[in-house]
Amino acid sequence: MRTFTITDESTQTSRIVCRREILQQALAEALRGYRQAFVFSDETVWQLYGRRVGRALGERAVYCMPAGEAHKTPETLFALLAAMAQAGLHRNDCLVCLGGGVVGDVGGLAAALYMRGIDCIQVPTTLLAQVDSSVGGKTAVDFCSIKNLVGVFHQPKYVYIDPVFLSTLPAREVRCGLGEIVKHGALCPEIFDTLEQNRDRLTDWKFLADIVPMNVAFKADVVRADAKEGGLRKCLNLGHTSAHAFELLDGRLSHGEYVLIGTYLEAAISAARGGDREYLARLQQLCLAALGGTLPALPDAEAAARAACLDKKNTGRGRIVLTVPAARGEYRLLELDTQEYARELARIGREGC
Ligand code: NAD
Ligand code: GLY
Repeated sequence: MRTFTITDESTQTSRIVCRREILQQALAEALRGYRQAFVFSDETVWQLYGRRVGRALGERAVYCMPAGEAHKTPETLFALLAAMAQAGLHRNDCLVCLGGGVVGDVGGLAAALYMRGIDCIQVPTTLLAQVDSSVGGKTAVDFCSIKNLVGVFHQPKYVYIDPVFLSTLPAREVRCGLGEIVKHGALCPEIFDTLEQNRDRLTDWKFLADIVPMNVAFKADVVRADAKEGGLRKCLNLGHTSAHAFELLDGRLSHGEYVLIGTYLEAAISAARGGDREYLARLQQLCLAALGGTLPALPDAEAAARAACLDKKNTGRGRIVLTVPAARGEYRLLELDTQEYARELARIGREGC
């Protein structure tokens, strides 16, 4: 068992526990501290795990959203809040979010809003949610066609991470989580070395289950130092500006696959601007291995640059802010204008590096 604690500047404390049999033991024990707990999940996860939850936790009020990013909306948020109100949830009760990043983000926001904030327990069931979204208290829904436009920081009271959930994940969702794991590798040498040493078993869920705690420890360190993304936490945006642009334009791959592509491209941009070429080439090899061996076709460079301009992280019109890998365990912020970024993408597309 591994446990981690995050306390942010508003003294919200989050206890994160990685262990097997989480439903029967840690979660069941935590719920004894509440008069009532309301479970939020999605239809796919509930079909797979609902019966097991019932056996471990007994009868609980449950609300299931349809699965998928398309439902990460204010409508789903308010439907959940209505179900919580109908169940008579009180300020001292808690909301248990059982699912991937979508359930975690919507449920976390509902917990933050309901009666001005109730406790939230995250039980992440995807690789991405276990290594990234359940840790750190970012919550949101998509709005006006912009991802995560409406949200708040609300640290979960507990995060319970059980590797058993990974055994039912489709290959595409495994790749999706790998995107964030490789990103962590670009920032944390220990994770990078472990990934390089296990390059031929990157999608083996038993290997992934072993490295989840290492990723949680890394992310918890970053969030502990900068919970509200004033500075250091920006490092977690590595590869994401390009990833979000491609996701917006193309949308056929998973978020994590776009993060792998974004990290690959931004490593090339960094190498051309004084980054450590030998290390960045190794990072690119890792991105390719995680993508299954090849880089998918890139969208048109000019269109990608226009899409990258819409990113929330940008500081001004026509400027694109990138968090790029620079050397082993090091990153830097680069600001390019739209034309410069488009030229870089076109060059990388031509040269294939
Ligand atoms: P998701 O929640 O949509 O889950 C992906 C799919 O896997 C869904 O169809 C789901 O039903 C299914 N699923 C979940 N657990 C399963 C299991 N154990 N077995 C089989 N199927 C399972 O997607 P995700 O990739 O987990 O999360 C993506 C979301 O996370 C995005 O909305 C993104 O914005 C958000 N995110 C948030 C943060 C944060 O810090 N809050 C960080 C990264 C990403
Ligand atoms: N996933 C980026 C962050 O939590 O800051």
